[in-house]
Amino acid sequence: MSNQTPNSAQDQFANKAQAWSARFSEPVSDLVKRYTASVNFDKRMARFDIQGSLAHAEMLAAVGVITDEDRAAIERGMSQILREVEEGSFTWSLDLEDVHLNIEKRLVELVGDAGKRLHTGRSRNDQVATDIRLWLRNEIDIAIGLLQQLRHGLASVALEHAATIMPGFTHLQVAQPVTFGHHLLAYAEMFGRDAERLADCRKRVNRLPLGAAALAGTSFPIDRERVARSLGFESVCRNSLDAVSDRDFAIEFCASAALIMTHISRLSEELVLWMSPRVGFIDLADRFCTGSSIMPQKKNPDVPELARGKTGRVNGHLIALLTLMKGQPLAYNKDNQEDKEGLFDAADTIRDTLTIFVDMIPGIRVKPEAMRAAALQGYATATDLADYLVKKGLPFRDAHETVAHAVRVCEERGCDLADLTLAELQQFHPAIESDIHEVLTLEGSVAARKHIGGTAPDRVREEAQRILAESQG
Ligand code: ARG
Repeated sequence: MSNQTPNSAQDQFANKAQAWSARFSEPVSDLVKRYTASVNFDKRMARFDIQGSLAHAEMLAAVGVITDEDRAAIERGMSQILREVEEGSFTWSLDLEDVHLNIEKRLVELVGDAGKRLHTGRSRNDQVATDIRLWLRNEIDIAIGLLQQLRHGLASVALEHAATIMPGFTHLQVAQPVTFGHHLLAYAEMFGRDAERLADCRKRVNRLPLGAAALAGTSFPIDRERVARSLGFESVCRNSLDAVSDRDFAIEFCASAALIMTHISRLSEELVLWMSPRVGFIDLADRFCTGSSIMPQKKNPDVPELARGKTGRVNGHLIALLTLMKGQPLAYNKDNQEDKEGLFDAADTIRDTLTIFVDMIPGIRVKPEAMRAAALQGYATATDLADYLVKKGLPFRDAHETVAHAVRVCEERGCDLADLTLAELQQFHPAIESDIHEVLTLEGSVAARKHIGGTAPDRVREEAQRILAESQG
């Protein structure tokens, strides 16, 4: 087989606007062309489309469907196309509908018949499914790396503030003292689960659809396992109908992305609250904030607010993808072209958001005095007093009631439990002794919670070290 056959058959594909023009009697309107084309957004998968095509061509040559010369011509053409795409000199055409046909047409321009043989035993249906998986696998690897960097940042601030006391809240009411480090490590846990989830999703992304062709497979003696190996896929999709129509992996990714954004959003909500002058626990570096065009005193935490807001769009993409799939019969339907923009945007949103947070978190300016002052208000150590009485032999419910009385008296006097003298405390219960004041201090309270998962500074240091080691590049 020769690479170049300078006859009219060769020019048919190169000259006709659409690959299937021969079958149609009239062209589509401009609006329909725009409506059905995906090139404006799927061209970002060009690199992966080329990678998939090269693996396919290599396999076709290995099994003898195309010659080695054809394969070499395809490789030569594709490396030029890749260069053109990367330099930005590639001409994308709406007439050629999508990334696949644009690249194939250019290949035929460059290498002639060899380019026309590339699509043997393949369809855009299995091709696009392969491209998305290759593209998404790369995005997942980037996202997992960013999640680990963010955990690293959280753990390093946590280590520094393992003993910094702040009020812990339930119902947004002061509950018990915790350490700021412990609070931050709660987020490191969330992002750790997010990374696990993505790694799990990656397993199902990492299967090869190529070989399913349009839907039924192909009559050519293809070697799918060979293609899977060369593209780094763990295995091949086992059913051709499922291979071209499955988008579960994209839905799973969006679900993981929605959870990442949910965690980012919760953290953002706290950053906004902590930065409010009424609370004043932290300050964010100026480069993550903006001022007001009218109020000169303002410094607004725009980045966390916007991150909280962007959670909505990622949640939206998840719902859109679920809805896209719910009514589709087997196998491929054009509906599936709608999978990309939301998926791309979900990946872009988590990538940008995580990148910014990786930069922002280590630079948080912590204000331990404000945190401490807040922890001293609201009787944060009342539970410690009750626990103390239990250790002296009282049943917990009685101890709870005794302390409730003491809190009420303090409230009337406008003081804290720790401000009461020993004699005053003993009026609530005679079992109270001079060791009580250590129990009522914030430091005593957090230090006592030294079991696994507790807020004691020693524990927090240990956990922070563990996460630092785990999230090391
Ligand atoms: N642009 C299409 C998509 O994104 C590629 C597959 C087209 N297949 C087809 N039979 N029209 O899904």
